[in-house]
Amino acid sequence: MKAVVITRTGGPEVLEIREVADPAPSPGHELVRVEAVGLNFADVMTAQGGYPGAPKPPLVAGREFCGKSDGRLVMGYAQWGAFAERVAARSALLWPVPAGWGAEEGAAFPVNYFTAYFAFWKAGFIGGPNPAAGCAQRVLIHAVAGGVGTAAVQIGKLLGVEMYGTSSSDEKLARVKELGLQHGINYKQRDYEDAIKDLTQGQGVDAVFEMLGGEHTAKSVRCLSDFGRAIVYGSATGQKPELDTRLLYAKGASVHGLWLTYLSAKPELMSQAWKQLSSWMSQGHLHPAIGHVLPMEKAAEAYRLLSEGKNFGKVVLKFI
Ligand SMILES: NC(=O)c1ccc[n+]([C@@H]2O[C@H](COP(=O)([O-])OP(=O)(O)OC[C@H]3O[C@@H](n4cnc5c(N)ncnc54)[C@H](OP(=O)(O)O)[C@@H]3O)[C@@H](O)[C@H]2O)c1
Repeated sequence: MKAVVITRTGGPEVLEIREVADPAPSPGHELVRVEAVGLNFADVMTAQGGYPGAPKPPLVAGREFCGKSDGRLVMGYAQWGAFAERVAARSALLWPVPAGWGAEEGAAFPVNYFTAYFAFWKAGFIGGPNPAAGCAQRVLIHAVAGGVGTAAVQIGKLLGVEMYGTSSSDEKLARVKELGLQHGINYKQRDYEDAIKDLTQGQGVDAVFEMLGGEHTAKSVRCLSDFGRAIVYGSATGQKPELDTRLLYAKGASVHGLWLTYLSAKPELMSQAWKQLSSWMSQGHLHPAIGHVLPMEKAAEAYRLLSEGKNFGKVVLKFI
């Protein structure tokens, strides 16, 4: 079968379409004939050699996919091996694609929506007491025009959250506003910490979804209100998060880690998330934002879009 192979550590130039052996499903797994796959920042990091736990190249790339298994259209999540014509997928991490959706939408769903759901859950906005409850709930979403960002905006709208989001582009922010974002902050034009201070009359936000790392971890914590929570789930800048935890004392703030790789091994949590997500989907509330659809042969171009911040929402690769 054909697959997108990370041939060695590096940028998009290390990707090659190669013939590889078909995967053999072990117990608890099933074979899926892949029709489309979703590209994630984690795939870019895996090729660069910066993703924790990834095997050494050569390695078949890819962690989310949509295709047919026993005649059903399913979408699924893996750690790698998904950018191939066939994937041996964990049955527990396969979900039915809702009626009316095609393979492209299915391929754009799992990582973004489960991650965004868990970010709101960890922030205390879903299913549990939130120490910040009682006042209007506000969240700052970094990379709001990206895959996880656009999914978070759709969920935040359903939860009635006041949302503030950062992006490098006014055009991208205008598109996210159509999804329900109330306050767009172009960080190329304005310091987001100042903007949050102004827009919230100095009160700050109840949660920040922080995936940038470097100085942004501390800056994001400074955007929090009393008892606010920073949900840290990435470091797109490639820099180690800088945070003096003494910053947290003054307002009872906290920092929470979020990693879907880890959570995906917790069946109860995944089924609780799926119950809510599938209910919203069946009511027609969730629509994956897909900015680019490219053939599998253009995998390198797709990786470039994401690593250079030129994507809007999800970049999808088509296999059929
Ligand atoms: N922990 C987890 O389980 C988990 C799961 C999914 C994703 N993530 C993390 O969440 C983040 C978003 O992932 P995604 O797949 O949805 O990607 P994405 O947001 O669709 O794409 C990345 C976006 O980040 C913004 N960005 C800001 N600084 C950047 C930089 N230095 N380099 C590249 N992009 C930069 C860009 O948007 P603007 O130009 O508009 O700012 C870019 O479009 C990543 O850090 C990823 O590792 C973590």
